Amino acid sequence: MRVAMIGTGYVGLVSGACFADFGHTVTCVDKDASKIDRLHQNIMPIYEPGLDDLVATNVKDGRLSFATDGAEAIRRADAVFIAVGTPSRRGDGHADLSYVYAAAEEIADLMQGFTVVVTKSTVPVGTGDEIERIIRERRPDADFAVVSNPEFLREGAAIGDFKRPDRVVVGTDNERARAVMAELYRPLNLNETPIMFTGRRTSELIKYAANAFLAMKITFINEVADLCEAVGADVQQVARGIGLDNRIGSKFLHAGPGYGGSCFPKDTLALVRTATDAGSPVRLIETTVAINDARKKAMADRVAEALGGDLKGRTVALLGLTFKPNTDDMRDAPSLDVAPALIARGATVQAFDPEGMEEAAKLLDGVVFKSGPYDAVEGADVVVILTEWNQFRALDLDRVKLLLKQPVMVDLRNVYRPDDMKARGFRYTSIGRPDHAA
Ligand code: UDX
Repeated sequence: MRVAMIGTGYVGLVSGACFADFGHTVTCVDKDASKIDRLHQNIMPIYEPGLDDLVATNVKDGRLSFATDGAEAIRRADAVFIAVGTPSRRGDGHADLSYVYAAAEEIADLMQGFTVVVTKSTVPVGTGDEIERIIRERRPDADFAVVSNPEFLREGAAIGDFKRPDRVVVGTDNERARAVMAELYRPLNLNETPIMFTGRRTSELIKYAANAFLAMKITFINEVADLCEAVGADVQQVARGIGLDNRIGSKFLHAGPGYGGSCFPKDTLALVRTATDAGSPVRLIETTVAINDARKKAMADRVAEALGGDLKGRTVALLGLTFKPNTDDMRDAPSLDVAPALIARGATVQAFDPEGMEEAAKLLDGVVFKSGPYDAVEGADVVVILTEWNQFRALDLDRVKLLLKQPVMVDLRNVYRPDDMKARGFRYTSIGRPDHAA
């Protein structure tokens, strides 16, 4: 199959490279010439484990190419994927679809023969209808079908998620389009991935409902963690105890500083707006959004409490700035709330992140960036683990203790064990766990 992928952001690039690896001929298109230039030199615009090798191999084998001008690729494509950004619109939280509609216009002007136009970007219910209308208006003669095919990729694990997904969702009523989509995903038959065909609106909603549910699940366990602290129970054991029930499932029950990233905050907000507009509000998700926003901000209070309530003149070592490990993505990261709140309370913040500092430097005023975890810890009154990068799981704790002014750790990701930290002489607080067996 021939594929044109419009947009070489996170989703477009990973999906394009993986489709090429499946054996299809893929052109990834992006208007940003410098991005395409760098891709030609195998320099990735994002940090994603394994992506550079996957791109290099498929470029070398002639299945994957990059272009700023999509004309040729779109003309020849069996399927054109729209994988451009859908940021939250300033002011109202609705998804901004201007890039999606611009891509639809470009595709309309260029496509030839039967073409399947696929939305990979997360788009609100009804966007497929609007894309169809735009294309039909510009090209009344065109032979095409608009399909919804949401992605469920986790950053840091995106290639594995693409190649071994739990399911693939394809929203279309068009038989020919179904056949094209089935052929594109045929390699997944080998590992018996269910490919679920639905109506287009249903597929669009599945994406939002999935992300909202996961965000709600995280928020649920975060609230249970607070309750554990209040009543002297252990959230990790509660999570295990409920997660072993198959109806609940053990994943996404790690209590922490609140969810961030490019999807959950944006998609929950967009779903709330869509539902309100449709006259069918999703109150659980409205509450989830509010709780999570407040939680991220409240994390600075925990740091203050660990130092007796006052941060004036204190130095805080912040380990981890990205919204999760194995990415350089800073979008809606808890650090964007936590660091300014610490500074506002009078603290000096010295931070380190393995991949996120370049971006963080643009977003965080007044933070002192350090070149490694031990640099960040040196001379600080407290060390805070904010993102669970592997290197923070394996810190030389004796060295950390020596470098700190006093041995205080606030572990917002429950990386270490309370009894062990106590035995090592740390004043240690974490999320939802007592410092003794409960
Ligand atoms: C998510 C979805 O998992 C993916 O299916 C969708 O397509 C895009 O959004 P991603 O944002 O990459 O992926 O990260 P994910 O691993 O889901 O984590 C999101 C946030 O939730 C992170 O801030 C993470 O730290 C937090 N989280 C996740 C928790 O706090 N606890 C958990 O148990 C799981």
